[in-house]
Amino acid sequence: MKNILFIVGSLREGSFNKQMAETAEKVLEGKANVSYLDWKDVPVFSQDLEVPTPAPVAAAREAVQAADAIWIFSPVYNFSIPGSVKNLLDWLSRALDLSDTTGASALQDKVSTVSLVANGGHDQAADIYRNLMPFIRTQFVDQMTTSRVNDSAWVDGTFVASEEVIADLNKQADALLEALN
Ligand SMILES: Cc1cc2nc3c(=O)[nH]c(=O)nc-3n(C[C@H](O)[C@H](O)[C@H](O)COP(=O)(O)O)c2cc1C
Repeated sequence: MKNILFIVGSLREGSFNKQMAETAEKVLEGKANVSYLDWKDVPVFSQDLEVPTPAPVAAAREAVQAADAIWIFSPVYNFSIPGSVKNLLDWLSRALDLSDTTGASALQDKVSTVSLVANGGHDQAADIYRNLMPFIRTQFVDQMTTSRVNDSAWVDGTFVASEEVIADLNKQADALLEALN
C-alpha cells in the first residue's frame, strides 16, 4: 500500500481541518497507509537558520521523503493560505544540498493534493495552492475537496462532513491514488 502523509494546516487542538483529515483517513482505509506530519516546532524561516538544519525541519523533510504523496488539509486565513503553512512549505521547498539552491528539495516530484475547510475564501485559497504546489515542484492533483464549517461546529467543536464532502473526498483519494500508479 502507498504511504500518504497528511499535513494538517492548523495547529489548533480542536481543528476542523484535523477532523476533516480524520474523515479522509477513513476514506483511505484499506487503500493506503496514512501518517500525520508533526510540524508544530518548525521555526519561522530565516536563511540564517538553514545550516545546520533545525531538527524539526530535518524530521519534516524525512517524513515527506518517506511518503509517496502529501495531502494538505488547510484552513483559509484572510482569504489566503495560513502563513504557518506557507512557512512550512517554504522550508520544504529548499534544496536538500544548499550548494546548489536550484537542486532537488524534499518535495521534488512528490504527488500532492489539498483540501480546505473554511467558511469563506475557498476559491482564493484554492487558487493559491493551485499555483504554489506545482511551483514548488510537486505533482499537484487538482481534485480539491472544499467544505464549509457546519454551524453546530462553532458551538460543540465537532466538524461534520456532509455526504457531498465525503463523496468529494472519495474522488480526491481515488485521483491521488491513480496519480501514484
Ligand atoms: C487569522 C485568521 C484569519 C481567518 N480568516 C478566515 C477566512 O478568510 N475565511 C474563513 O472562512 N475563516 C477564516 N478564519 C476562521 C477559520 O476558518 C477558523 O478559525 C477555522 O476554525 C480554522 O480552521 P481549523 O478549525 O482547522 O483551525 C480565520 C481565522 C484566523 C485565525
